[in-house]
Amino acid sequence: MGGRVTFGGTVTVELEDYSLVGAGKARAHDRGLVNAEWFLADVEPARMRELQVRTNRRATIDTALWIGLTFLAGWWLVATAWSWWSVPAMLCYGALYGGASDSRWHEMGHGTAFRSRRANEIIYHLASFQLFRGPTVWRWSHYRHHTDTIITGRDAEIVFQRPPSVWRTIFAFTHLQGGAELFGRLVRHAFGRIDEDAKEFVPASEWKRVIIESRAIVSVVVAAVVLSFAYGSFLPIALIGGPTIYGGWLVVFFGITQHAGLQENVLDHRYNTRTVYMNPLFRFLYSNMNYHVEHHMFPSVPYHALPDLHAEVKDQLAPAVPTTATAYRVIFSTLARQHVDPTYEIELDVPEVESRRRRIDVGESNWVQHANGGVDLAAASSMDIGELRRVDIEDRTFVLGKLGEDDFMLCDGLCTHANIHLAEGALVDGEIECPKHNGRFDCKTGEPTRRPVTQPIAVYSVTIDGGRIVGHVNRKATS
Ligand code: FES
Repeated sequence: MGGRVTFGGTVTVELEDYSLVGAGKARAHDRGLVNAEWFLADVEPARMRELQVRTNRRATIDTALWIGLTFLAGWWLVATAWSWWSVPAMLCYGALYGGASDSRWHEMGHGTAFRSRRANEIIYHLASFQLFRGPTVWRWSHYRHHTDTIITGRDAEIVFQRPPSVWRTIFAFTHLQGGAELFGRLVRHAFGRIDEDAKEFVPASEWKRVIIESRAIVSVVVAAVVLSFAYGSFLPIALIGGPTIYGGWLVVFFGITQHAGLQENVLDHRYNTRTVYMNPLFRFLYSNMNYHVEHHMFPSVPYHALPDLHAEVKDQLAPAVPTTATAYRVIFSTLARQHVDPTYEIELDVPEVESRRRRIDVGESNWVQHANGGVDLAAASSMDIGELRRVDIEDRTFVLGKLGEDDFMLCDGLCTHANIHLAEGALVDGEIECPKHNGRFDCKTGEPTRRPVTQPIAVYSVTIDGGRIVGHVNRKATS
């Protein structure tokens, strides 16, 4: 987009350029908004570790219920085709297939819903198909969304670009244009024509995978269309592929509450993201993503723990919007105002609090160098299992973690993907997980074990000496 607009008859403003390959990209760099440090609310580390715990139980129940209800609604549609009962059947089937799949896609993409990596991946791919989203393209797009949330020229997922149009927003609920664009992109990718935006954030090493995935999704949808023609029935396409379009209204219904009308180009999710209190049915369909500020601030917390996380941090955030209806009232009145004045922003009552950054600073004046060349870091008994601590030694920064009784790890502090400190992350099944995009490294070898990290991290040897943790920061753990 970009360009200029005049409003009020006299005031002319420069519009933001939302393209990832246009002038907005350079502008985001110049403003220091790319890969920047974001505000973090203060949560006691021990409490955060409780909230980060992954289990399979809750996600299994929720996923089984979602899939079971989807099959039931599909059976209802088949059994009633084509009577008036087909209308509510399609409404339910579409909402479950093409709407509720969005938050499943999202949670599985973060890898936090199930403890089992395989379960997350299976549901992620299923939901990607249901949404016409190439799994790899959208995985990387979402990494970018979390790195540079609502930063113009960087975030590929800014849905309501300014100046917004209320009528275009209402039309978005049909998902006709959105669904056609998604499928068109899949077709182009299936023919090997990867678009410039995707090339901007998907590594070239994954383009082949993008093409294969797109071909697979397009083939299944084409097969459903062929079946419909062959049998002279709309049912195949009404059951597969079609619900992505006619159920997409639910994606828009929930998605609009996340960021629409809020501030662009800020480094604090409290100003560009919205938390809305929703009823239990909505929270099930939306996998608790109504706690969206909390999710953006701490993506390592699984969806089922977000209400508890909200209770911990709500005093540090703007007040949550009390109902979905209130959120809609505020959003549409804001979009209407931004249509004539793209600079208009909602005023939020955000409390002034310090961003959380905890560390052990082992500066030159107070660190003890052991005879064996190690550095005294802390008493072994002072750490809990699963705890991570930031350790700064002179101009270097590390993460110290306790994996088990007398089992510690020490590695470089910054993630190799985007310079985020790993001390805010989590220890999960012998891996250290980055707090920004849930990338992971093996604690013993430093090898990357989960995208988006692709480069290993240095891991150092740790010994226990007289009950003290001694880090050998010049000796690699594997040497
Ligand atoms: S900064 Fe992206 S995974 Fe660490």
